[in-house]
Amino acid sequence: MLRVTGLTSQFRGRAGVVRAIDDVTFEVPEGEAVGIVGETGSGKSVTIRSVLGLLPSYGKVVSGSAEFEGTDLIRLHRSRLREIRGARIGFVAQNPFGSLNPVLSIEKQFRNVMRAHRRISRSDLRDLALERLESVQVRGPERVLRGYAHELSGGMAQRVVIALAMLHDPSLVIADEPTTALDVTVQRQILDLIDAQVKQGRRSLLLVTHDLGVVAQYCHRVVVMKSGKVVETGLVADVFTNPSHDYTRQLLAAVPPAPWAAVPSLSGPEVHR
Ligand SMILES: Nc1ncnc2c1ncn2[C@@H]1O[C@H](COP(=O)(O)OP(=O)(O)OP(=O)(O)O)[C@@H](O)[C@H]1O
Ligand SMILES: [Mg+2]
Repeated sequence: MLRVTGLTSQFRGRAGVVRAIDDVTFEVPEGEAVGIVGETGSGKSVTIRSVLGLLPSYGKVVSGSAEFEGTDLIRLHRSRLREIRGARIGFVAQNPFGSLNPVLSIEKQFRNVMRAHRRISRSDLRDLALERLESVQVRGPERVLRGYAHELSGGMAQRVVIALAMLHDPSLVIADEPTTALDVTVQRQILDLIDAQVKQGRRSLLLVTHDLGVVAQYCHRVVVMKSGKVVETGLVADVFTNPSHDYTRQLLAAVPPAPWAAVPSLSGPEVHR
């Protein structure tokens, strides 16, 4: 589905050129969920942004490839990449309010995302938008469609972003810390929602997170990054039970014990997958 090979990106700044990621290689197989973990500044977001062609103007992919459904995204023309990004790859960023346009109604934003890829009548679009908002459990979808981003809570705004990202039934969903800007009580709901949308559409998922517990629950495979490099990658079950790299062991050791671990009578949540 997505094969990233030797991806290397750098930024040009006052202090010269800084290499942000170096020789990053990993795969997202069809129908699987892959988590990228690593400490802050390890290159998770730069990896995602390099793949999606979303680096700022002073940033650049200097070598490597990102093959998606047989096409190298790195070598693709900007306009063609934008087409793929909206239609075949859905992107959910950390802050939903950064993804939504504050001065356009939500309905207008559905219309824009739709129109970029497909012709559809106004009323059909409205019906589709309502259906999609319902599928991500947005309450009062008619009112939400008429309204603006600032009227929504963080959790509701991220649901809208997810509905927009899924509008063209992408085969790959990329989410970069999709819940860190949200209330803890809402975080799991949003992850469950992304997970449900991914499974329903038999899509692949590339999920960036700080939280190894999230990877354990939602992902088949994990990519561990440190200082711009991939230090370890493999099946979650293998990597978490038998990490081959010291840094992975440190990450795992840093996870606080689950509160129920101290209470012998409670067995904790059911383990999925
Ligand atoms: N816009 C930018 N300009 C210059 N340097 C950047 C920029 N974005 C990232 N970097 C640098 O690239 C490296 C990787 O950053 P990146 O944002 O990918 O880390 P991250 O793993 O996503 O961290 P976090 O968990 O905090 O989101 C860091 O050294 C960072 O300072
Ligand atoms: Mg980041």
